[in-house]
Amino acid sequence: MRYHKIDNQFFTNNREAFAKKMEPNSVAIFVSNDEHPRNGDQFFPFRQSSDLFYLSGIEQEKTILMLAPDCPNPKLREVLFVLKTSEHIAVWYGHKYTQEEAKETSGIENVHWTDEMDMMLREAASYSKNIYLNEYEYPKYASDVESGEQRFTKEIKQLYPLHVFERSAPILYHLRLIKSETEIDLIKEACEITNKAFRRILQFVKPDVMEFEIQAEIEHEFTRKRANGHGYYPIIATGENACVLHYIENDKVCKDGDVILFDFGAEYANYSADMSRSIPVNGKFTERQRAVYQAVLRTLDTLTENMLVGKALDDLDKLSKILIEKELISLGLFTEIEVKNQDLKEPLFKKYFMHGVNHHLGLDVHDVGNRNVPLTAGMVFTCEPGIYIPEESLGIRLENDILITENGPVNLMENIPIEIEEIERLMSK
Ligand code: GLY
Ligand code: MN
Ligand code: MN
Repeated sequence: MRYHKIDNQFFTNNREAFAKKMEPNSVAIFVSNDEHPRNGDQFFPFRQSSDLFYLSGIEQEKTILMLAPDCPNPKLREVLFVLKTSEHIAVWYGHKYTQEEAKETSGIENVHWTDEMDMMLREAASYSKNIYLNEYEYPKYASDVESGEQRFTKEIKQLYPLHVFERSAPILYHLRLIKSETEIDLIKEACEITNKAFRRILQFVKPDVMEFEIQAEIEHEFTRKRANGHGYYPIIATGENACVLHYIENDKVCKDGDVILFDFGAEYANYSADMSRSIPVNGKFTERQRAVYQAVLRTLDTLTENMLVGKALDDLDKLSKILIEKELISLGLFTEIEVKNQDLKEPLFKKYFMHGVNHHLGLDVHDVGNRNVPLTAGMVFTCEPGIYIPEESLGIRLENDILITENGPVNLMENIPIEIEEIERLMSK
């Protein structure tokens, strides 16, 4: 692994917390992500299922975790199955976990090869009434491609038709909402690597540079600082491209006088940062760009101050609309009278500000978890207002990652330059 070793007590704690929430007489099974074929004998880079990583730390395909906390056979209470390795596999495909390494990484005593799973599961199932299976339940996610989890669910339901099936996702997503100290440290590291990459590009950007050249600088810094890569595909959007919210082509030339909107975040040990910044290509904002920038920054600051224990995300959403509407009037994009007479079903601000301002952040950039529970200490969210004015070829978004604590919000990106003066100063060096 590129990242520094994670104390296996973290994974042990996560399994214990999950086991505590299981019904008695139950077995839970978690399967790894598949390797996804690309073409010929090539695969897309492997990324472990966030849930399996959270419970085991194992980063390898064909891994299975079985939890049966009250099983009469103590050897079946916690079992990890990993792909059987051999000299042939080691020569052709490189090193795979030995059983000892898998034990050391996960903190699980009972490690077996994956091909031993069927019999051990049969025994655990014979003592159990319920079988917990996992499925990715992020509401916005829909895919035509069958996942390893879905395939496994089909097989197990056929093999054990008389058992009661339970969903693991509600338990896991409840646990993953509140970040432990270990997770907060990993997210902080992802933010710090993102900071280094941002500072690097402040020195690099100048008129006529291509968006992908900037992407290369980011990736250079990510890789040398032990990130797996990006937590999500990066947005490097100059001028009018910044008004396309999911712009990812990153293939245009950055013109003198334009502002570039960046949205990128390093993934460190599978934990993601999520940052947006907007900078002038030539190192100096125009008066108009400065005014729009300050409007977004004021909104970010006020929203962040309101990220308090007990608040609802809905409240922050409503607040963002009020704040941005006021800023848009000050920027002369519409008048107070026009707002008074607006159709409330299609408010005017939507033309310039059309997205939400917070989402959970963690192992996934849009992390799992109920959006309807009040903000609680230990949750991590993004805060990301923006103003997009296509007729001025200008889009500005500013996004920080915020830890909720009993003592108020903590900006995990406080080291990443955001004030205009600092950005201009660093770009002029
Ligand atoms: N980078 C994705 C987002 O900001 O939500
Ligand atoms: Mn983002
Ligand atoms: Mn975001």
